[in-house]
This record gives sequence, C-alpha cells and structure tokens, in this order.
Amino acid sequence: MTDEIGRSETFFGESGVAGFTHRAFTKAMGFDDADMARPVIGICNTYSELNNCNRNLRQLAEAVKRGVWQAGGLPLEFPTISLGEIYLSPTSMLFRNLAAMDTEEMIRAQPLDGVVLLVNCDKTTPAALMGAASADLPAIVVSGGPMLNGHFRGQILGACTDCRRLTAEYRAGTLDADTYTTIEDGIVRSAGHCMVMGTASTMNSLCEALGIALPGNGATPAVDSRRERLATAAGRRIVSLAREGTRPSQIMTREAFENAIVLLSALGGSTNAVVHLPAIAGRLGIDLPLSLFDEISRRTPLIANMRPAGKFQMEDLYYAGGIPAVMRELLPMLHGDALTVTGKTLAENVAGAATQSQDVIRPLDDPLQPEGGLAVLTGNLAPDGAVIKHAAASPGLLRHRGRAVVFRDLDDLRERIDRDDLDVTPDDVLVLQNVGPVGGPGMPEVGNFPIPGKLLKQGVRDMVRISDARMSGTAFGTIVLHVAPESAIGGPLALVRDGDEIELDVPARRLTLAVAEDELARRREAWKAPVSAAGRGYIRLYREHVNQAPLGCDFDFLRGGDPVHATLQPKY
Ligand code: FES
Repeated sequence: MTDEIGRSETFFGESGVAGFTHRAFTKAMGFDDADMARPVIGICNTYSELNNCNRNLRQLAEAVKRGVWQAGGLPLEFPTISLGEIYLSPTSMLFRNLAAMDTEEMIRAQPLDGVVLLVNCDKTTPAALMGAASADLPAIVVSGGPMLNGHFRGQILGACTDCRRLTAEYRAGTLDADTYTTIEDGIVRSAGHCMVMGTASTMNSLCEALGIALPGNGATPAVDSRRERLATAAGRRIVSLAREGTRPSQIMTREAFENAIVLLSALGGSTNAVVHLPAIAGRLGIDLPLSLFDEISRRTPLIANMRPAGKFQMEDLYYAGGIPAVMRELLPMLHGDALTVTGKTLAENVAGAATQSQDVIRPLDDPLQPEGGLAVLTGNLAPDGAVIKHAAASPGLLRHRGRAVVFRDLDDLRERIDRDDLDVTPDDVLVLQNVGPVGGPGMPEVGNFPIPGKLLKQGVRDMVRISDARMSGTAFGTIVLHVAPESAIGGPLALVRDGDEIELDVPARRLTLAVAEDELARRREAWKAPVSAAGRGYIRLYREHVNQAPLGCDFDFLRGGDPVHATLQPKY
C-alpha cells in the first residue's frame, strides 16, 4: 500500500490501548492479524427492504467481497441510508443530501482504504457519488442494474413510463379495472431499477462515462449473472485502486463530467441528471453551468432509441452492446483519454465494444435526432434557467403561446384539476407554483402533473406545463421544469396569474411571460412568501441551506472539496 492512503494500517498499527482495542474488537468478528494486514475495503450498501430496486444488493455485496478477498483486501460491509423512490414521502429528493452526508461521513470516520458503493434506485447513485467525491478515498460504483422488461399480452411494458400512460387511459375510461390490475401484476417483474431511460438508468449509465464504474455497469440486467461477475471484478479492482491511491478527484475531472453530459444527451437521459451532475461536480470544486448542458446537447446527436423518448428499454440496450457500444459511437465527441477506475482510459475501455442492433443504437452519422434530448431555456420567466426534455415532448408544442392557468401549489392542483368548471382549453399553458427546492420542499417529481380531467376525456394527452419542480426521468410530455429562481423564494414564476400569456420557444431556447415590466414590478411588490412551517430538524436544515436547481440542490455548506486525511488521526 502507498503511504498516501494507509488508513487501516494506522488504525490497526496504533500503539497502546487504541491499537490494542482496534485489533481485539476486530478479532471478535473472526478476523486475524493476517486479515488486518490487508487494505480495508468498505462496501457501502444501500440495501433496504423499503427499496425494491435495491433488493439484489445483498447478493452483489457478497460478489464484491469475493473479489476483494481474491485481490488481497479485507472487505467490510456497512449500511447507509437507502432512498426507495416509491416509499419516501414527500419525495426522495428531499433526502438525497442526507444520504450524501451519511455516505461521506461514514467513509471518512471509518478505517477504510477504499470503498465500493452499492447503489441502484434514482437518488442512491448521486447521493453516493456526492459523498464519495467529498471524502475522496478510492471508490468504485456498482449499481444493481435495471429490471427486466415488463410484458402484457404481447406488449413490452416499461416502469414507470407505462404506469403513467396507462393510468391516464384508465382515468379517461379507455382501460377497464381488470385490465389495469393485470398490468399492475406484470409491469415490475424483477429486482432492479426502472428499465426505461429514467433517472436510475441515466445515472448508472453516466457512471461509466464519469469513469467511476466498470464498463457494463449501466445496462447489464439486475438478474443477469454478468452483473454478479461485474461486482466481483469491481471488488478485485478497488484493492488495486486503494494500493495505487487513485482517488475520485483524479477520475471525475471536468473532462469526465463533459463526457457524462455528452452521453446524457445521446441517450435522451433524465432531466434529473441536470440537477445531480452539478451537485456531484460541486463537491469537487467543478462548476457545470446550465449553459454547458445546452451547448453539449445542441452538438450531440440523439443516438439511443430509448423510452420515454424512443422505443426500447435497458434490456434491449444491453443486448445491443450496452453503454460501451454507445460510447464507442460517441468517441469522436468524448475526451477519450480520460482516466477511469479500470486503470485504462475511456477510449481503451470501449475499444472492443460493438453495436449489435442499429435499431437501438444509431450510428453517429445517422442519428434519431441531430441534437440531444435536453434543452435549457431562459427568459424573464426563468432568469437563471429552466430545462425541457424536448425529445420526449410533443413536436407541435415546442413553439407555443398560450394563456396561463395557474395552480398555487399541489393542494390547489389536487382540488381543481379534475373539476368540470375549470376554465381551461387544450391551448392553455398550465403553471404549477411552489414546488421547487424550498417550496416543495425537496423539488418533488410533479412537473409532469396531470392533464385536466375534462380535457383528458376529450382526447387531449399533452399540454405545455411549467413548474419549478422536477419530473421523473420515466415521464414524457411538453414539460418545462426546474424554473429558477423558484417561486417560493419570489422568482418570476410566483408572479404569473391566470390569463397571462406565456410563450415557449424551444428552438430559440426562450421562455417568456408576456406581461409588462411595470405590472410585474407591482406584483413583485405585493408578493408574500408562502407561509411555510419551517419546522425543526432535517427539513429546517434543508429549507435554510438548499441551493437552487442550477447548483444541483446541494447544501450551500457542502460544496467544495473536503478530502479525507491521508491517514486516520490517532484517537487517544
Ligand atoms: Fe427505483 Fe424507479 S423506483 S428506479
């Protein structure tokens, strides 16, 4: 082991009662002096029975341990907060920073020389990366992998794009209750994360472009034995990284983040990555302005035909060559010389990859769309920016001017959206306020809020919707998100009233509230912050310190590096 890491050596080698107790209490777990002479590899496990997506992580932890033992390390598994998207209220995003703090502090506080981060569901991956970036000990991400495709009467189903699509049909009365229940029985078939190109698929794929995961991490299905072998290989590799002292800050460089944004654009990935990547980069002192996402998205063709923007799902992407094949296509646009956790460059990692199906992965010179799936909008309604996944929007609405129909908050939305007397037409623009980072709190995934019931029954399936919320990466529609600054802190979105004209122009990247500046000034003067019970504990900490979406919604006091000391400090 190099002198640079050597934290377990310090821990077990301390003199006096400290070293005595460290060794004696470790021997209580059945380990001996030979074990304690090995580099200690933490296996940071986000397994939880309240997280269906992460249910295979116990099995993968055993696979990682096998690899660590093979390579001469001592694997020690420990738990961190698990964020099950389906189970957390009001939104898992509220707890991403809490999980990141847990991960960072547990890596820092324990006698580890390296760590394997076992993640899967949406927020577990960015939380682990944020924590590991701040701690800056050698690290590899191993995700649990995507679910198998859902099936129903010959149709492929995707969680949770079809959960939403088919629920809309059920609400519209075009799907009966028995069929709806039968679909519910068969849509989520296995362990793993949602299998469309949602947030988990996106973030676990971007780990390959960031260089912090082994090739194959993104698309290998959760239940494929190759996922276990990938975990064992990661176990072997982390021992080498710990011995070499290669840290995340040497892997996740500015070039690596640019590679991740290129991949995000080419995949038509989740808008949530536009929040998570700046948060992870911010921990390493790297700024990723929204303009960089737009600039890269404009010059990167959409080449992966993935739902919700396209046709296929992660299982299909895996058979088509997976993320290595996508990056092999993208190589001319990537920093191929970026170092990765394999010890090789990105270009070396993907050199042997090949596309098996051009229906799923298009060649760079014959893409699905000439530019990437995301666009960043600015204008007087979003001075600090807003995001739209135009690849999953209705082409006819990408240039649209309409009358605003405003919902004050989620309670107001719930109360009025399905009322027959709601004054709304298909050409209107629906606006939802007070669902941003502070207002939510936690910027819930409600940006794809429902079409009014009476329009749904008339066959309307998409309208322009604008909010300061996020949306699930599995969702679709003409949905403007992440409006900043948010309405709960007095951003212009708070000033919109029923009947105002709003103009969306995605090709020009503009979002405009067509109201005179003096009228807006009057409204600003009269604006009062929504009454919020700031409360106590974590929610209070969150509301007081969360940054706006363009800075990734991290806490203001967590940005910037704060690496682990080269050696653990002696205790006594
Ligand atoms: Fe975990 Fe969708 S619920 S990724």
